[in-house]
Amino acid sequence: MADIGVLGGSGFYSFLSDVETIAIDTPFGPPSEHPVVGELGGRQVAFIPRHGADHRFPPHRVNYRANLWALRALGVRQVLAPCAVGSLRPELTPGTFVVPDQYVDRTWGRPHTVYDGAPVVHTSAADPYCPAGRATVIAFGNVVPEGTMVVINGPRFSTRAESRWHAAQGWSVVGMTGAPEAAIARELALCYTSVAVITDHDAGVETGSGVTQAEVFAAFTDSIERLQTLLKAVITQLPDADCSCRHSLDGTAAAEPVVAV
Ligand code: ADE
Repeated sequence: MADIGVLGGSGFYSFLSDVETIAIDTPFGPPSEHPVVGELGGRQVAFIPRHGADHRFPPHRVNYRANLWALRALGVRQVLAPCAVGSLRPELTPGTFVVPDQYVDRTWGRPHTVYDGAPVVHTSAADPYCPAGRATVIAFGNVVPEGTMVVINGPRFSTRAESRWHAAQGWSVVGMTGAPEAAIARELALCYTSVAVITDHDAGVETGSGVTQAEVFAAFTDSIERLQTLLKAVITQLPDADCSCRHSLDGTAAAEPVVAV
């Protein structure tokens, strides 16, 4: 059992000590990988590499519902979700960590809800990220404390016109995995905090010459140590409080959390 979940790249396998792999299935099929649960800074942490250990799931094929359901079924209430993003602003350079406070979901065709029939459940997405989780990451310092992340379907990167349009809306960064992940976390009454790692300037940014997969992967690898340091600090300091996210189902037809352990 665990109380904090991390959804990230396979680089995080070395992150935890005394790990145990927990075989788990969900009503939505298997998660990207069986979660590993281990200890970090006195907390029990569950980890799932969202793209699979061998990076076999592209962003539009990640089973977001199963990953979050599996974490919730393990007892997790707080999820930390690092992800790679492109920058839509010249001043936000590769290697920068952004703590988004909003997202715009431009994905399509992805199963995006765990409430796909009765009971009909509408959750609030006005403030889609956990206030306590964001505050803890921001307190660590050296991060950009706000920004809107537009989430595209991928797997291709944006055209220059799309990218310029995203930037013109005032959005900060562009990624491929932040939705519907955040929305499903909210549907499961999970605290969810995104840490967006800038790997490149997107195609519409004047200083960018177009994005390549190799560039993104290399830049993410370059940031992994700093990211792990940040997440370790956050995990030890994350308050286990009765956060508003835990009440996302209050007043809905699913007032009781739906997940059986
Ligand atoms: N992930 C990393 N860089 C990206 C970009 N430029 N667009 C979409 N997703 C990304």
